Amino acid sequence: MTSPKPIIAVAGSTSKQGRSVVRALLGSGLFQVRALTRSPSSRQAQHLARMGAEIIVAPLELGHDDQWLAAFAGAAGAFLVTPPTPPKHSREYELGCRLADAAAQAGVRHLVFSTLENVEDISGGRQFAPHFTDKARVADYIRTLPVTHTFVILSFFYTNLLEYYTPRMMGDTLLLPIYLPEEFRAPFVDPLTATGPAVLEIFSNPERYQGETLAVVGDVISPREMVETFQEVTGIKAEYRDAFTREGMLRNLPEIANDELHLREVLGMVNYAVDYGYFKPERDLEWSRSIAPDTLTWEQFLLTTGWRGERTSFNDS
Ligand SMILES: NC(=O)c1ccc[n+]([C@@H]2O[C@H](COP(=O)([O-])OP(=O)(O)OC[C@H]3O[C@@H](n4cnc5c(N)ncnc54)[C@H](OP(=O)(O)O)[C@@H]3O)[C@@H](O)[C@H]2O)c1
Repeated sequence: MTSPKPIIAVAGSTSKQGRSVVRALLGSGLFQVRALTRSPSSRQAQHLARMGAEIIVAPLELGHDDQWLAAFAGAAGAFLVTPPTPPKHSREYELGCRLADAAAQAGVRHLVFSTLENVEDISGGRQFAPHFTDKARVADYIRTLPVTHTFVILSFFYTNLLEYYTPRMMGDTLLLPIYLPEEFRAPFVDPLTATGPAVLEIFSNPERYQGETLAVVGDVISPREMVETFQEVTGIKAEYRDAFTREGMLRNLPEIANDELHLREVLGMVNYAVDYGYFKPERDLEWSRSIAPDTLTWEQFLLTTGWRGERTSFNDS
C-alpha cells in the first residue's frame, strides 16, 4: 500500500501566487493540497477544486485562528501569502504573524512565506513602503518559531501593468504608465506561473532551503525595453508614460494618485527600488531560472498571454 501524499496548506490559494503554487504542487503528483479561501463558491476556488485541491473556508483576516488551525491540522507544509493591503490601518504584520502561529501550533513541519525586503531598515527610514517592511518583519517573526521555514521574494509583477497601472489609448498609440524611470532596469516576474515551480522545489527539498530567502525573477528589464518589446510582439504603437514621479502619477494614474497615502507608498516603494535595488545585493537572481528554465521573460509573457493593453482582473469570482 502506498502512503498518502503529504498535504500542503495554501493560504491565499486563489491569489495569483497561490494559484500558481496549487497548480505546481498538484501537477507534480507529490503532494495533496488544501486551499484556504473566503469564498469556496468563487470561480477561482471552484477551479482549484476541479484540479483536485481540498477547499477550506479560512479568510485571511484577523480573528479566524480556529479556522486556520483546522486548515493547517495534519499538513506537512504551509505556503502563506498575505493579501494586498492598503497602508491605511494595515494589519498585515499581525495577520502574517498569527497565520504563522497557527501553522506552527498545528504542527506544520515546513513553512514558506512570501515576503519582501525591509525597506525601513535598508533605507534608514527614508522610504515608506509598509507592505514591504511588514512582510520582512513577519519573516523575522517566523524565524523565532519552532518550525523550519523558507522565504520567497517575488519580483515586481508583470501583471501590475494589466491590473493596476493600466495603459490607455490616445489616437493610435497605447500609453503605458510605468512606475519606474524609463531607463531603469528592475526585476519583474509572472506570479501566475513562476511562484509554483519555486515553491514546489522548496517543499520537495525543505532541508536544502531551510532559513533561505529566495528571489523569484523572470526578467530584469527597463520600462523602455518593456514598451519596445510590447510594440514588437503586438504590433501596437506604444509609448512610456511617467508613473514614477508624484507629478507623473497625478497626470498618468490619477486613480492611484488621488489617495495620498497609497501614492506615498507607491512612491516610497519605487524610490526604494531605484536607490537601493529591489533585492538586497546578496539575493541570487539566477536561482529561480536555474530550477525553472522556462520562467517567462516579459516577451514570453506577452506571447503566451496575448495581452494587448486591456485592463485585466485576476480575482473575479
Ligand atoms: N504586485 C507586485 O508587484 C507584488 C510583488 C511582490 C509581492 N507582492 C505581494 O503579493 C501579495 C498579493 O499577492 P497576489 O497579487 O498573488 O494576490 P491577489 O491575486 O491580489 O489575491 C489576494 C487573495 O487574498 C485572498 N484574501 C483573503 N482574505 C482577503 C481579504 N480580507 N481581502 C482581500 N483578499 C483576501 C483572496 O482570496 P479569497 O477571496 O479566495 O479568500 C485573494 O485571492 C501582496 O501582499 C503584495 O504585497 C506583490
